[in-house]
Formats: sequence, C-alpha cells, structure tokens
Amino acid sequence: MKGTKKQFSKEAFKSMRQTGAITATSKYSVRKMLSVIDFQKPLVIVELGVGNGVVTEKLIKRLGKDSRLIALEINENLYNLAKDNLPIDERVSLHRHSAFEIDNLLDDLGVGEVDYFISTLPLTMFSKEDNKRLMTKMCYYLKPSGKYVQIQYSPLKYPMVRRYFPNVKVSLVLANIPPAIVYFCSV
Ligand SMILES: C[S@@+](CC[C@H](N)C(=O)[O-])C[C@H]1O[C@@H](n2cnc3c(N)ncnc32)[C@H](O)[C@@H]1O
Repeated sequence: MKGTKKQFSKEAFKSMRQTGAITATSKYSVRKMLSVIDFQKPLVIVELGVGNGVVTEKLIKRLGKDSRLIALEINENLYNLAKDNLPIDERVSLHRHSAFEIDNLLDDLGVGEVDYFISTLPLTMFSKEDNKRLMTKMCYYLKPSGKYVQIQYSPLKYPMVRRYFPNVKVSLVLANIPPAIVYFCSV
C-alpha cells in the first residue's frame, strides 16, 4: 500500500521472527496469488497475515458486493497501520488475531465454510505443532471447491503443505524480493 511500505519494513525488521520478511510482497506476486479467485461469485475470503495491507487492498478492490473478507494480523503496530490506511467497508473485517486460533474467530463470526485462504504467513518461522494446527484448521473450513493460496520464499514447507493438501500447484515469481514461490492448494 502506498506510503506504508517503509513503515512495514521497519516493523518487519524489528519483529523478524514474526513477519519473516523485510519488504512487502510485490504487486506481481499479489497479482499471481489472486489470479485463481473468481471474484464474480459471492465468496468468503480469509486473509492470514495482513502486514501493511498490500494484498488486502487488492482483495478489497476486487471483492464483489455480496462477498466477505475476514483479515487477520497478529502484530499490533501492523494491525494499526493496516486499520488506519485500508479502505475498510461493511464487506471487510480486520482482526488483531492469530491465524492459529482461526477456528475461534470463524465460529464467533458465524462462518462455517471458506472459499479462499490467502496467506503470506511465514510458515518456516512456525513450530511443527503450530503449522499442524494451522493446516488442520484450514482443511476443516475450506470448501471442497476452495483454495488455500500461500506465498513462501523457500520450498522447505512444501512437503508439509502436501501432507494436508493433496493437490498443490506451484508457481515461481521472480519479480519479488526475494523471489517467491506461490502454492495453490486444494483438498
Ligand atoms: C511476510 S509478512 C506479509 C505481510 C503482507 N501481507 C505482505 O504481503 O507484504 C507476514 C505477516 O504475517 C503476520 N503474522 C505472523 N504470524 C501470524 C499469526 N500467527 N497470525 C496472524 N498474522 C501473523 C506478520 O506479523 C506479518 O505481518
């Protein structure tokens, strides 16, 4: 998001273990991540790891009027940055909440099924147990026709993701710092 990149990098650097990044995702990667979404349909989209909102902003721009975006960010400073700068309306809710507790949030919001999980979470920074919790919960809520889209900077967690999502398509985005891998996963 314009004007927030520097603030994101500063916070990301300070909280490296939590953010797993030093710069925001590039517009090319964001475009690639969102390329599989059919925005014409009414959708429930859950975004994990909002950061400064580069992905969120594009999701909001393309979201249909009957769709819903539930966006999560755990870092307080980044949550506030996103809240102050994103064009949030009645289709969108932003939560300072951990992705590992996504089930509690979705239950509170009365959401039983999700069409897309869009994640920039740093899986390589998480413990085995936390990744297991996250994958199990996403599998539970993801519609059979839905997709989990995940960007990563290394293929390290590919085998782990494959254990939960038998169908994973991989795409490389060179125009990202560092070059990124996007996983498109379905059950
Ligand atoms: C690699 S950054 C990506 C930020 C932004 N979406 C982008 O694409 O530039 C990952 C983000 O996930 C957030 N995060 C890390 N662990 C989280 C968790 N358990 N729940 C929610 N957000 C988390 C970090 O604070 C950080 O903002």
